[in-house]
Amino acid sequence: MRHVITRPEWDKYYYHSKEREGQVKIEHEPKETEIEKVDVVLGELERLGFIDATGYDMDALERFRALVKENFFIFWTAINPPVERLLYAISYIRKPKSIFGFGIFTGNPVAWSFGPAIQKVYEATRLEAVEIDENNGRICTDNFNEIKGDVPLTVHVEDGFETIERFKDGEFDLVYMDANGKDPETGKNNKRINYTFLKRAYPKLKPGGLAIVHNAYQESFRQDAGAYLDFTADEKYFERTATVGIDEQGLEISIKKG
Ligand SMILES: C[S@@+](CC[C@H](N)C(=O)[O-])C[C@H]1O[C@@H](n2cnc3c(N)ncnc32)[C@H](O)[C@@H]1O
Repeated sequence: MRHVITRPEWDKYYYHSKEREGQVKIEHEPKETEIEKVDVVLGELERLGFIDATGYDMDALERFRALVKENFFIFWTAINPPVERLLYAISYIRKPKSIFGFGIFTGNPVAWSFGPAIQKVYEATRLEAVEIDENNGRICTDNFNEIKGDVPLTVHVEDGFETIERFKDGEFDLVYMDANGKDPETGKNNKRINYTFLKRAYPKLKPGGLAIVHNAYQESFRQDAGAYLDFTADEKYFERTATVGIDEQGLEISIKKG
């Protein structure tokens, strides 16, 4: 079953790209407003049974932000500040020991889910990330080498469809997807690749594990990758799913059937 978590006032603004007529660009959003938005989403996620608490260490998040901003080369990103915070908080609360990131550019998209594990808020067993583009993958490897310390984090530079096959069933607590590329099922370049990927990754995700995809609140995602939304709303496969419209890009957060 799908839940939609958003607020009408959030739809009036955008951070990175205008998605709706009349939206106004957010510049210098006060930290308190960002925190309030994330608190609203965490409260709803708790009420709906996605998480069992809403607290996370905000100072630790700021320390992680500083680490990423000082050490990462990022061409551009549409991971906006409330999404950084939300992804970090979800990992802080759920403590996924094993995470797989698909289509992660120079690393920033999955960095927020990896954050609490990199900071050793809890002990991770496996942090895996894959990027197909050689240049992006090289920079991603360098970026994470700067911040990962001795945490078991591996960046693969290859087609993520090959990488995922090398893992055992039930291996991952969280699969984060942000690829934009050639969908092997349609041959088209768009976000539907994440649907085909999630079907392949599904057995590798633990029952009760999380699947998260970026951009799910965008009209273009619905048009191109509607199959992703149909799949995650199917209760044969997913216990529950939520479209989170905290910014104009949004996230889909889904829990695999237990
Ligand atoms: C542009 S990034 C997404 C950016 C992100 N939404 C953000 O706001 O920062 C998408 C990445 O998916 C990668 N990608 C496409 N197909 C892939 C595949 N089969 N395996 C791994 N990565 C892939 C692309 O090379 C690209 O770097």
